[in-house]
Amino acid sequence: MDRFYITTPIYYVNAEPHIGHAYTTIAADVMNRFQRLMGSETFFLTGTDEHGDKIVQAAEAAGVDPKSYADRISAMFRETWPKLNVSHDRFIRTTDPEHMKAVQHILQKVHDSGDIYFSTYKGLYCVGCERFYTEKELVEGKCPDHDREPVEREEANYFFRMSRYQDWLRDHIQSHPDCIRPERYRNEVLSFLKDPLEDLCISRPKERLSWGIPLPFDDRYVTYVWFDALINYVSALGYPDGPLFHQFWPVAQHTIAKDILKPHGIYWPTMARAAGFPPFRHLNVHGYWRTEEGKMSKSHGTVVRPLDLAPLYGVDAFRYFLMREMVFGLDANFSEEALVQRLNSDLANDLGNLFSRTTGMTDRYFQGKIPPFGSEPDEQDRSLMARMESTLDQWRTEMPRLAFHKTLMAVWECINAANKYVDQAAPWTLAKDPGQLPRLQTVLRMLLEINKGVAVLISPFMPETSEKMLQRLGMDKKALDLRLEEDGKWGTLEAGSPVHKGEALFPRIQKEEQKKDKPSKTPAKPKPSGNAFEKPSAGEEAQSISLDLFKQVDLRTGIVKEAERVPGSDRLLRLLVDMGEERQVVAGIAQTHSPEDLVGRQVIVVANLKRAKIMGVESQGMVLAVRDGDTLQLVTTESPLSPGLKVS
Ligand code: MSP
Repeated sequence: MDRFYITTPIYYVNAEPHIGHAYTTIAADVMNRFQRLMGSETFFLTGTDEHGDKIVQAAEAAGVDPKSYADRISAMFRETWPKLNVSHDRFIRTTDPEHMKAVQHILQKVHDSGDIYFSTYKGLYCVGCERFYTEKELVEGKCPDHDREPVEREEANYFFRMSRYQDWLRDHIQSHPDCIRPERYRNEVLSFLKDPLEDLCISRPKERLSWGIPLPFDDRYVTYVWFDALINYVSALGYPDGPLFHQFWPVAQHTIAKDILKPHGIYWPTMARAAGFPPFRHLNVHGYWRTEEGKMSKSHGTVVRPLDLAPLYGVDAFRYFLMREMVFGLDANFSEEALVQRLNSDLANDLGNLFSRTTGMTDRYFQGKIPPFGSEPDEQDRSLMARMESTLDQWRTEMPRLAFHKTLMAVWECINAANKYVDQAAPWTLAKDPGQLPRLQTVLRMLLEINKGVAVLISPFMPETSEKMLQRLGMDKKALDLRLEEDGKWGTLEAGSPVHKGEALFPRIQKEEQKKDKPSKTPAKPKPSGNAFEKPSAGEEAQSISLDLFKQVDLRTGIVKEAERVPGSDRLLRLLVDMGEERQVVAGIAQTHSPEDLVGRQVIVVANLKRAKIMGVESQGMVLAVRDGDTLQLVTTESPLSPGLKVS
């Protein structure tokens, strides 16, 4: 059985989880779920990085000791991930005793082999930061955080002989083209390696920093935080002797953002080499999320907290947005508006609509039972099946390359092809002719199978939605237990087993809802009060109309013959209504009514309304409807009547 090991960075406990952390962790989760679906044995690691001066400073600012501070923030990370449906196997903390032991083991080993030496370091030291700076890091000769010139200082420390591994690392990266990906980051590391590599200072004197792992060979010092943190990737597997280390380390993949490329691309593989084990198999590097105000960071205070948005819009919508919007490797912009836009269009309109019309028609035409395939597949069916097949191929090739956005685009092309298939196959017309029953069976069965296939393919991204869809199609399985080989097979739904339409998978978000937690610029309009039987006030009296005037409105009964979306609009439908004569009417009901649900429905139409063009389509009347909050209901008659009767 194939194995797969994926990690996220271990996050510093000096800030609460935010959208940047959420992206990396969800991306790793998506990969992990994908590999499980493909049948691999997987291990997924995340955790927190708790030593070093950053943490000491944050704890001091909060007025607590470093350990209590680390406990509190680490718990926040630990509690965040399950809420985002992250399915990690292990949450490591660098304060875990086994981790500390593994760090000391490696330090001792590398020291014994002669790759750690003691030396005096002279450099530019910022007293405010309590650390050395390189010339390059300074801004106009000053510390970027304190705007102060650093002082020259000499300090005796331990150094890792990193320079010794420079040639080996360059050769390794050149002979393993995809070990750092996408390629731009591989090139970046290779270009670092063009300059001579300096040895790495791996200790801090205790008098300057005591919050760290003591060096096993000199207890006056603690370990530099990066040398400590990177080792989490093997200590979590029980390095050096644990069975997990032997099973999973050879297939290790790290997921990080570009900010920590150097420690991962240079320090870590050379450390591994010096300690006697091979480097990671892949280092997957993504870009940065920016908010509208500029690059997002903890220090700029423009942090978007994932937990604020995920419950508001749904965890799956949030996960989908992050994976669909960012091209892995490049930066992306985050905005709540863009999230809502994707939710309404891709999720509610495309996927939600396909599922609800498929299950709705199964309800209507087959009493909610999965039909068998009836007639032989025709050209349309074959082309839809071919589309599903090619989507699956793309999914299989793009996912291991982390091309999440491309994978999702391919799945959505398939969803849109299926929506088009519904319009072309017109099951509502087939349903009127008993002779067409075998064809109707095939059309619905095709659609049900496509929905099942889509549910399986989206399960790494949207596990809850996938489970919900499969359950309503009669397959009760947890997303993590799905296996493509058995659950992704075409044609395996059970004829006769029940299908449940259920609530909309993704209710549309109205503009007002999106803004509901934000202060409104315009004062809220008072809600209309009273009912039709209340005595009108004097002001209302002036607005009332005479019976004669009302009679001028020509209201007629009508039956919807055809319905389709108005291209380019997610609100409008074009209806062809039989009112004795046929009329084309544009109605703003697409968000609550799907076209096929309308065909055959009795409606009331204002027949003598001035003709108007709406989004380029002529409307020759108006369909009456009543809005109640989010729901919109068509006005109709107690029982169906002939078309064209006058309402009075
Ligand atoms: N503790 C180190 C990592 C040690 S790993 C052995 C660290 N921690 S961190 O809390 O600063 O996390 C950095 C990581 O958080 C990034 O590499 C990335 O995974 C994620 N992100 C933080 N901000 C981000 C964005 N604005 N956009 C995308 N990801 C970002 O560095």
